[in-house]
Amino acid sequence: MKKLELKIAFTEFDNENEMSSSEQDLLQKARNAGGLAYAPYSNFHVGAALLLENGVIVTGNNQENVAYPSGLCAERVAMYYAGAQYPDVAIKTIAITCKSKTFHVGEPLSPCGGCRQAMSEYEMRHKSNIRVILMGETGKIRVVDSIADLLPFMFKAEELKNN
Ligand code: THU
Repeated sequence: MKKLELKIAFTEFDNENEMSSSEQDLLQKARNAGGLAYAPYSNFHVGAALLLENGVIVTGNNQENVAYPSGLCAERVAMYYAGAQYPDVAIKTIAITCKSKTFHVGEPLSPCGGCRQAMSEYEMRHKSNIRVILMGETGKIRVVDSIADLLPFMFKAEELKNN
């Protein structure tokens, strides 16, 4: 028996001004998208802005439904739109922000497991790491350079193969 440890790497910025202007712009686009979310059940508005390798920026927000599981997170709305419109183009960076109508979010958003899995599929499909920028309404900004740092021991395509 052996107890092992796994390390992940992430960067934190105290505020947006420490980031490049293009990343500040991506965060602003995520915020704007979050403002258009359809979230009457949770009152929790999430926005995602993806920068594709061809320079196009695709945004999305959470879309809820009275039959709760039929809704979809902001990240997947944006990623699946990008996948549908630009199937051969990798995602370079994803900025994700959130805002609640009922409380103040002062911590970076932590994307749900399903969205982490969908991001990992995108990385594997295009063999290209995705930088993920996470923010709440205010507070520090957390950044990872690959989904591997958000989803250790992720399920990979090789696991479907018969060795
Ligand atoms: N949500 C997202 O859009 N992204 C996440 O990573 C976490 C949760 C949405 C789903 C639902 O509409 C609301 O936030 C509350 O869970």
